[in-house]
Amino acid sequence: MNRITKGLLNMINNQWYGILESKEVKSKKSIGVTRMGEKLVLWRSESGKVNCIFDKCCHRGAAISAGKVIHDKMMCPFHGFEYDSSGKVTLIPANGKNTPVPERYKVQSYLVEEKYGLIWLWYGEILDNMPEIPFFKELREGFSYGGFSEMWPVNYTRAIENQLDVVHLPFVHTSSIGRGNKTLVNGPVVKWEENLMTFYVNNVVDDGNAKPLKPNEIKNYKKLFSLQLQMPNIWQNIISKDIRIVAIFAPIDENHTQIYLRFYQKFMKVPILKQIVNGMSTFSNKYILHQDRRIVLTQTPIKSELTMNENLIQGDMPIIEYRRRRAFLKGEIEKK
Ligand code: FES
Ligand SMILES: [Fe+2]
Repeated sequence: MNRITKGLLNMINNQWYGILESKEVKSKKSIGVTRMGEKLVLWRSESGKVNCIFDKCCHRGAAISAGKVIHDKMMCPFHGFEYDSSGKVTLIPANGKNTPVPERYKVQSYLVEEKYGLIWLWYGEILDNMPEIPFFKELREGFSYGGFSEMWPVNYTRAIENQLDVVHLPFVHTSSIGRGNKTLVNGPVVKWEENLMTFYVNNVVDDGNAKPLKPNEIKNYKKLFSLQLQMPNIWQNIISKDIRIVAIFAPIDENHTQIYLRFYQKFMKVPILKQIVNGMSTFSNKYILHQDRRIVLTQTPIKSELTMNENLIQGDMPIIEYRRRRAFLKGEIEKK
């Protein structure tokens, strides 16, 4: 088990990244995807366990993902080499069942876990004490969800930063969540708890007399509307105690991101109605997300850095804090 070594993408080492939805890895089936710039094959063994190895056969380069699941193993479609979950070839049919397979017949494997309806990939070295999967605590139980997924041709950092951007609301979302012309941005207040960022929004109509309040001038900020980013790639909008919108930003490669958007709620518990409520939210969420997409796709450069040629303002504080935290976790700066 090795970490992905390409060093692409603003990736942060030693993190669990949400990379796929559970339902994309079907029972006893395989799926080939690109994540973190690597071709990966994931499959579900008969026991239900999800496995992940490099999707290029070490024999003659075919995509293993086009093959079949045989019990717990993956069989390459070209000449039938069988791989176990550690990426080792355990059978070369042409050499006979009784012939041991030399050590060098193997591909890289990746540590994956399935939790909260997602597949998580460990991007890093295997540690003695692996950290727990970083999913919002209150959403781990009691909520149901529905949602959709789409690909954006941008680095995942740009897609995340868009969700931290409180300044864009009255301009990009004039007809939806940004109604009311609240162009003056007080704060925002940003708080961290470990690698969980909460930011509190206080946008107001500009009457021409006020200057934006500095974050420390905002009292009672806890009463404000808030959103959270859980490093490295999960975000939520806290609509209320019972309603959340969650996004997972799965890095495909340097220039592409798969966004999973989910509507979480716990006010409706009746089975069929619950599905209808969760499904209906997709229309509005897609509409809002596409308002963002139209603009974010025009941003250059395609990925963000801690120090780059942008002129940021006070209202960009959540974006600045995210960049700092990312640089800190990558070991590029000392202070958080
Ligand atoms: S290319 Fe996979 S078995 Fe030959
Ligand atoms: Fe937006």
